[in-house]
Amino acid sequence: MNKIKVHIEKGSSSSYEIHIGYQIMDRMALILANQGWAHRYFLLTDSRVSALHGERVLAILRGMGLTVEEIVFPGGEEQKSIHTCTELAERMMERGADRTSALIALGGGVVGDLTAFLASIYMRGIPHIQVPTTILAQVDSSIGGKTGVDLPSAKNLLGTFTQPKAVFIDLAFLETLSPREFINGLAEIVKYGIIEDPEILEELREGEEALRRRDPAFLAGIIAKACRIKKAIVESDETDKGLRRILNFGHTVGHAIEAESGFAVSHGEAVAMGMCAAALLSERRQYLSPEDREKIFAAIGQAGLPVRIPSSLDPEGILRGLKRDKKKEGDQIRFILLKRPGQPFVNGGIPLSLVRETIEELRA
Ligand SMILES: NC(=O)c1ccc[n+]([C@@H]2O[C@H](COP(=O)([O-])OP(=O)(O)OC[C@H]3O[C@@H](n4cnc5c(N)ncnc54)[C@H](O)[C@@H]3O)[C@@H](O)[C@H]2O)c1
Repeated sequence: MNKIKVHIEKGSSSSYEIHIGYQIMDRMALILANQGWAHRYFLLTDSRVSALHGERVLAILRGMGLTVEEIVFPGGEEQKSIHTCTELAERMMERGADRTSALIALGGGVVGDLTAFLASIYMRGIPHIQVPTTILAQVDSSIGGKTGVDLPSAKNLLGTFTQPKAVFIDLAFLETLSPREFINGLAEIVKYGIIEDPEILEELREGEEALRRRDPAFLAGIIAKACRIKKAIVESDETDKGLRRILNFGHTVGHAIEAESGFAVSHGEAVAMGMCAAALLSERRQYLSPEDREKIFAAIGQAGLPVRIPSSLDPEGILRGLKRDKKKEGDQIRFILLKRPGQPFVNGGIPLSLVRETIEELRA
């Protein structure tokens, strides 16, 4: 089992470990039993993950003598709401959850964000543990302590910064992901390749076959690399004031596309399209060479992700979404752009008209 330590020592946050390996739930049970983070655990998960893995994880935890109850809710982004959050809090209250309880988030980014948000506000804060089961959650959302729920008008508008006690990344969970979900998560790994370590793009290209087989050894290597990048960025900027913003590469347009499609376009697909938009904007502004822009499009396409925005999506709807985004300042939008792969920077002012042209150009 590979261990990565996330060092955060400011305010009320503390450091924690990311454990990465294949079939590590028994190790997790042992660590929870030894740490004594809580008297009682609530395993929060969505119905699909519960059906696939809930019973087995519960049995392993209980086998180690831990008191654990499962709380299941329907999956999907539409569940990431304050309404679901209060419903879950009520269910915990009914079962007597108190300040000596802790939450375990077993699932993708939706379960992780929602559980972490609930943990941060339930009785003014109880501990939580992340057990991410999608690639996106393993390399991104479970690390770094950003929690949140959506409002009908915008994603992640209500949230807190609350670090987990630990993150357990078990590659065995990835075996049950649908092909679409698997590819979806690759968008975040490609993102790390584009913003930080272009070698990742090479590895993905060379490891195409291993990736297709979901080879645990290959996945362990590439996921650990991605986690190290995320942890380094979080360590230097826990609360998203500077460097951490580069993680939003592709997300500005991506979130607007996701919302405009009514979430028919998945998060990973939307981020892929958003990364293409950011690369094209970078080229249009002459920061990025046409060759590097092409390399980026090729890496995204080769991972099985889209490099075009569906023509069924209304560009004006996407632009309205961008205007609502937290990254807007007046008539200009703040973007993460690129000088070359591995060299992102925050650009304070891209006029909406240029964004409109770029979106039009990318429409299939
Ligand atoms: N907190 C952060 O820093 C951060 C960063 C990036 C994204 N996010 C958030 O993450 C969310 C997206 O996460 P996601 O892509 O993991 O989506 P998700 O949580 O909706 O999971 C996608 C689907 O996969 C299913 N699933 C999960 N694990 C599975 C498994 N092992 N086998 C089979 N099916 C499985 C789920 O039931 C769901 O239907 C968004 O809400 C986004 O805002 C948060």
